[in-house]
This record gives sequence, structure tokens and C-alpha cells, in this order.
Amino acid sequence: MNPVIYSVVHVLSVMLLVAFTFQAIAAPVEANRKRLSMLTGILVLLVFVAGFGLFAKGEFESLGWVVVKVVCAFVLAALTPMAFKRPERSGRLVSVAVVVLAVAIYMVYFKPF
Ligand code: HEM
Repeated sequence: MNPVIYSVVHVLSVMLLVAFTFQAIAAPVEANRKRLSMLTGILVLLVFVAGFGLFAKGEFESLGWVVVKVVCAFVLAALTPMAFKRPERSGRLVSVAVVVLAVAIYMVYFKPF
């Protein structure tokens, strides 16, 4: 498949995953639980599939940065269930989201290892 398609799917899924994660943190009410859990689950899967597709298509010299991004994606995926379980920790969850996003973006553009 054309790597640009993987790129579009990857970036769009990341953006929507972030949007729905923040929605879960901002409004962790029962009425949102099922829909947001399902959406963030599907989106993180798309982030992985398109990310590995991009990785398979590219010729990268190192692997470390991808491993770090995988960990970032797992942490991001865990925030929605945590938002519903511990709504009182919303401030902390937002900070974690900002840090993992910054790390993932740094990894892709600098590929330090
Ligand atoms: C927190 C989660 C993630 C964020 C925020 C993120 C973000 C991004 C962004 C912004 C790009 C640049 C797209 C472009 O320039 O076309 C990108 C590319 C890429 N991502 Fe991710 N990503 C995440 C997770 C993952 C995961 C889990 C994988 C691997 C399974 C992955 C593998 C890749 C690869 C291989 C590229 C292409 C790099 C290149 O062409 O230089 N990403 N990602």
C-alpha cells in the first residue's frame, strides 16, 4: 500500500485518539464510557497498524525510537480507562498525555536512537 495512506491514517488516528482521550478525561461520565472506550480502542489499533505499515515501508537505521513510540501509544491508550476509574486525577492524566505526546513527536522527528 502507498505509504502516504499509512501516514494519513496514522496521523489522523493519533489526532482523534488524543481528542477522545481528552474528552474522556474532561467528562468521565457513565454515558460516555462505552463509546469512548470503543473509539479509543479502535483508534489505538489503527495507530499501531499504520505505524508498523510505515515502519515496514521505510528504511530506518534504528529501532529504539519506534519502541519508545509503542510505549507512548500504550500509555495513551491506558488513559481512557484510567479517566473513568480515577476521575479525581484528571490533572495528572492531562500531564501524562502531554508528556507522552511530546516524547512520541520528539522520537519521530529526531530519532535519537
Ligand atoms: C503516541 C503515539 C504516536 C504519535 C503521537 C505518533 C506521531 C507520529 C507523527 C506526527 C508522525 C509523522 C508523520 C509524517 O511526517 O508523515 C509519525 C510517523 C511515524 N510513526 Fe508514529 N506516532 C505514534 C505512535 C506510533 C507507533 C505505535 C508506531 C509503530 C508501531 C509509530 C511508527 C511511526 C513511523 C514508522 C513513522 C514514519 C516515520 C518517518 O517517516 O520518518 N508511531 N508518527
